[in-house]
Amino acid sequence: MGNDPMRRNEGAPGARILAFGGPQPARVVTNDDIAATVDTSDEWIRSRVGIASRRIAGPDESLADMAAAAGGKALAASGLSAADIDLVIVATCTPEAPIPNTAATVATRLGILAPGAYDLNAACAGFCYALATASDAVRAGTARHVLVIGAEKLSQWVDWTDRSTCIIFADGAGAAVVGPVTDPQAGPGIGPVVWGSDGGMADKIAIADRNSFIVQEGQAVFRWATTALHPVARKACELAGVDPTELAAFVPHQANLRIIEAIARKIGAPQARVADDIVHAGNTSSASIPLALSRMTERGEIGSGEAVLLLGFGAGISYAAQVITVP
Ligand code: UT7
Repeated sequence: MGNDPMRRNEGAPGARILAFGGPQPARVVTNDDIAATVDTSDEWIRSRVGIASRRIAGPDESLADMAAAAGGKALAASGLSAADIDLVIVATCTPEAPIPNTAATVATRLGILAPGAYDLNAACAGFCYALATASDAVRAGTARHVLVIGAEKLSQWVDWTDRSTCIIFADGAGAAVVGPVTDPQAGPGIGPVVWGSDGGMADKIAIADRNSFIVQEGQAVFRWATTALHPVARKACELAGVDPTELAAFVPHQANLRIIEAIARKIGAPQARVADDIVHAGNTSSASIPLALSRMTERGEIGSGEAVLLLGFGAGISYAAQVITVP
């Protein structure tokens, strides 16, 4: 003891994604299904939002069920065992209850014993925030392998008689396993995050209290998303040392296809494949980016070693972007 300085953790030179997982609820709800109960149409929803169908959890399918399914799939694909994971982060804005958190429950279900476990709420930016904090934990040496899950059961917070929101939001979970980059010469597999927020716009997307449903000022959010976010995305590329013309893909939060296409045009990456998972998944908030990444990987639309730009944005208002390397 005496005057010895306190020891530091040994960190890793970088962090990378080892695998994705993104199973969805089985139940498909089409636009025509919704048009049978509220005054809307398939044509309106496709042209204004880009959604053709979405997945909605069954009554007995909990947030933890979806999160565990996604986490289990990512863990299996990573080749690691449950014992290798020492931190579990669940990004969600639709927890079943304030306590207990979802992360500890999911960890126990997956046989991950005594990991650090917490939920993180940055709404639709949640997965990018969780990925950044997982990367920092690995680089700082506070964790070696992190299971990062974005999971939402938005259907339980939607007023199914409100046509301005019930056509948009959906359920799902996606996950990634994050681990160390061991070769100091290799680039970081998860680039520096650019994140921010504006509490002055807090009322633009909100659930006022436990008895309320989600409300949003759609046009205000649309304007903000299509004018304020492309510099954030470009800054993430700059910090990662990746020119936008080198990106294999752009995977933004799946909020609205028109928003996605508008931001993509402004980034200056015409060669990049643009994720359009919203067409069949709807807007699943913090799950939308890992779900899209899972599907694009499964279909071979993005390949190992390629650079992909992520951009999460939504309630808060919160946003975050980073470049990742495909595992
Ligand atoms: O994920 C979190 C971040 N959220 C977002 O990024 C959402 C951003 N905003 C949006 O995606 C769009 O603003 C919406 C999809 C929410 C709405 O689309 P919009 O093109 O901005 O429509 P609007 O709100 O300006 O409404 C236009 C018209 C209105 O009728 P009037 O007043 O012009 O007669 C609405 O009442 O469309 C009407 N409308 C609908 N009509 C048929 C609103 N919802 C519907 C509907 N079906 N489902």
